[in-house]
Order: sequence, then C-alpha cells, then structure tokens
Amino acid sequence: MTVLQDRPNSIEARDVQSVIHGGTNLRRHLERGPLVIDKGEGIWVTDIHGKRYIEGMSGLWCISLGYGQERLVAVGTEQMRRLPYYHLTNHRGHSPVVDLAEKLLQIAPVPMARVWFSNSGSEGNDCAARFAWYYWNAQGKPQRRKFLAHRQAYHGNTIAAASLTGVPHNHRYFNLPLDGFLHVRCPHFYREGLPGESEEAFAARLVGEIEETIIHEGPDTIAAFFTEPVMAAGGVIVPPAAYFEKLQWLLRKYDILLVCDEVVSGFGRLGDMFGTTTMKLAPDMIVCAKGLSSAYLPISALMVNQRIFDAAAQLSDDVGVFGLSLTYSGHPVAAAVAREAVRIYEEQDIPARVRALEPLFFAGLRQLGEHPLVGEVRGRGLVAGLELVQDKATRQPFDRALGVGRACIVHAEKHGLLARAVGDTITLCPPLIISEAEIGELLARVKAALDDTAADLAKTGHLNI
Ligand SMILES: Cc1ncc(COP(=O)(O)O)c(C=O)c1O
Repeated sequence: MTVLQDRPNSIEARDVQSVIHGGTNLRRHLERGPLVIDKGEGIWVTDIHGKRYIEGMSGLWCISLGYGQERLVAVGTEQMRRLPYYHLTNHRGHSPVVDLAEKLLQIAPVPMARVWFSNSGSEGNDCAARFAWYYWNAQGKPQRRKFLAHRQAYHGNTIAAASLTGVPHNHRYFNLPLDGFLHVRCPHFYREGLPGESEEAFAARLVGEIEETIIHEGPDTIAAFFTEPVMAAGGVIVPPAAYFEKLQWLLRKYDILLVCDEVVSGFGRLGDMFGTTTMKLAPDMIVCAKGLSSAYLPISALMVNQRIFDAAAQLSDDVGVFGLSLTYSGHPVAAAVAREAVRIYEEQDIPARVRALEPLFFAGLRQLGEHPLVGEVRGRGLVAGLELVQDKATRQPFDRALGVGRACIVHAEKHGLLARAVGDTITLCPPLIISEAEIGELLARVKAALDDTAADLAKTGHLNI
C-alpha cells in the first residue's frame, strides 16, 4: 500500500488529485506522488516529514541567495503595504522599477540602453525575439525572421522560448519548434569532438557548420543567435575557449544579433556578475531572471542596447504604441525585491565569493571524477555537471532506458541531497551562499549516491566493477 492509498487526506494524495507538475512523468506521479517541501534555511530545505536536504540545485537554478534572506522579506513586505501593484502601460510608472532598471544598466557587462521587464526567463526570451523582429523591421529587412540556438540548450517553455530550446521533449507532440527556429550543434567537446581533434579545431568546425547553415538559409533571413554563456539545463556545457570568439566573428560578418540568455548565469553563478563577462560575449540583448530576485518573486529583465531600443522607439511611433504590454511588467514588489537582491550581491561581493569557492568545489568534483561511473566533470563557478558513463575509457553512455541518472538522484535524495539529472548528467547548482563545510557535505552526499548507483548497476550486471 503506498502512502497515497494509505493516507488519502495527506498533502501527497491531495497533490496527486489536484496539481499538474511540469518536467514530471504525470502518470508515474499518480503512483509515487510528490516530495513536499515545507521550509528552508540557508542552503537547506525540510520536507513535511521533517527530513532535511541540501538544496543542491538552488531549486531550479534560481535561489542563489538561499532561504531565509530576511532583507528580501522585509523589502517585499514594505512594498506590498505601500504599493502592491502598478503597471507600466500607457506612460505609467513607479519608483521600484526605475531603481532596478537604473541599477541593471549600471552593472550591465556591456553598454545597454534600456530594460524591459517580464515575469520569467521564458517570457524574457520570447520578448527578446519580439525585439529582434522589431529591430529588423525597422531596418527595412522584414525577411530577417529566423533564429539560431544550440541543440540541447534550454531557453524556456513559452512558445517562442520552447522553440529556441533545443530539447526534443519540449517539442514532441507540442507541435514545436515553430518554423524558422533552427538549431545548431551543441558545443560539447567531450561528446561532439572527433578523435584527435583539438578544442580549437572543434570550435572552428562548429562555427564552420553554423556558417554553412547561415548560407544555406540565406544570411538575410537570420534575425538573431541565442546562447547561454554556459548551457546549464543542457547538462552544464562549457563551450571551448575559442568557440564564442569565433562565433561572434561570424555573427558580425553576417550582421546577426546576439542574445545572451543569462537566466542561470547572471548574478555571480560563474564567478562574475554576468556570464557575458566570464565568457567574453558582446550581446545586443541580455535576458536575466531567476537569480535576479534570488527567486523570491518572479521577475525577469531584458536589457537591450541602443540600436535595439532606437528601433523599438521608431516603430512604436510608427504604429502609435509599443504593442508589447504585460500586466505584471516591472511589478513593484518583485522589482523592489530584485533591487534588494542585487544590493546583496554587490555588498557581499557574491561573484568574488564564487571565485573563491570554485577551486574547492572543483577539486572535490575532480576527485569524484575518479569514480568508476563518472565520465566527465564539467562546469564553472558554482555550477557543475557529472556525466555518468558505462565505460570511462570509451565514453560509452548507458542505455538511456536504464535511467541511471534518475536512479542516482533518487539515491541522492535518500542521502539528503536534492540534485538533478539531465539525461545521465548529475547537475549541481548550490546557493551561492554555501559555506566551505557545506560544499564538503554536498560532495560527500554525491559520492554516497554514486556508490549506491554503482552497486545497483554491478548487481544487475550493467557495470563491471
Ligand atoms: C537558461 C534558461 N533560460 C530560460 C529559462 C526559462 O526560465 P523560466 O523557467 O523562468 O521561464 C531557464 C529555466 O530553467 C533557463 O535555464
């Protein structure tokens, strides 16, 4: 008898009867129900049965400042009392959104002119696509409608953002991607590199392939290229050093806009305030969300440079109105909380903290890289992926049907660690306020999960150890 049948009035049973969960096998959920989290403090969360876990993924790559940030609670409460809502449509405004926009423009990693607010990373990317179309219409090039993005990259789940996303399960049976959303090879050297190929040659080959795609489609049909500095939900893929330099040269050659999706990398995750700086990017637009408010409230910011803003101003004048408006754009409570979060990132110099912790984190991860199951350890700052393989020498992956990654995170959960599996890559993205001792604790739990997974596989003959 499962807990669901056993206790029909439990939260788990009521959840199963009422809630739809994203990124979840909905049928399996009917049987196993949810893990229900009750409260959090620092990097720790506690479920409704009192079991404590290290939140090894910052929720969904987002609660960068951890739980229990009283300053964010206080600012949100105060703003709620003063002005819980106002909008930005038809020349209306309020001070929290101005304070936040000014700050973002001040800390932007490349010169930016204005900020457009929405409520999620997906909407931010959708809106970036809209701004790109507006830009090319203003240039008298309405045929520049297509977008390029990487296979495996995750850019969100509204219709345009899901089309940018290069993950088959976000498309299948949803009639996506939309026409004109094209995907290029994932810059993952470990998986996509050829025998004997250097990282530099790999980067050149991929950029060559992108050029072929551009020429095949017609350079004058491409509006923009979307990329993350490090592809987080794609399995924490760090492109080789030469890749972005070559890619940006190519985009300049064909006058293609660059949109940097900083939804995960923004606000210190890679060791700089923005991943744009870490990976030496020069985008026309930057999308931030998640860490922007440390996930305390939903908000995203799309920073646009002068030429994008000028085009928007010109065409909105032409049309009579900028026809993009959202009820909650720049919501005052979310904006105030985000402004306070940015104050904390700056005051506590969170990017420097990440740079200081990175060597310890990766030294531990590299030790885990010796484990018989781990094929590749990768990442940057405080985000990492451990790719589990059947054979370390040949990099042979496990049969997907075995669900090795998923099994490993179930073991991790048992050991009090919440991690995530992207295929057979275990991803880790702890809150940036994690202490050195807590990093040790997190890594010990990963090791225990790997050992249990290896033992299972050895028992069933799927791993020769
Ligand atoms: C890089 C990236 N872009 C966009 C999104 C979508 O953000 P949201 O879930 O807030 O819509 C995500 C979410 O994981 C993401 O990782």
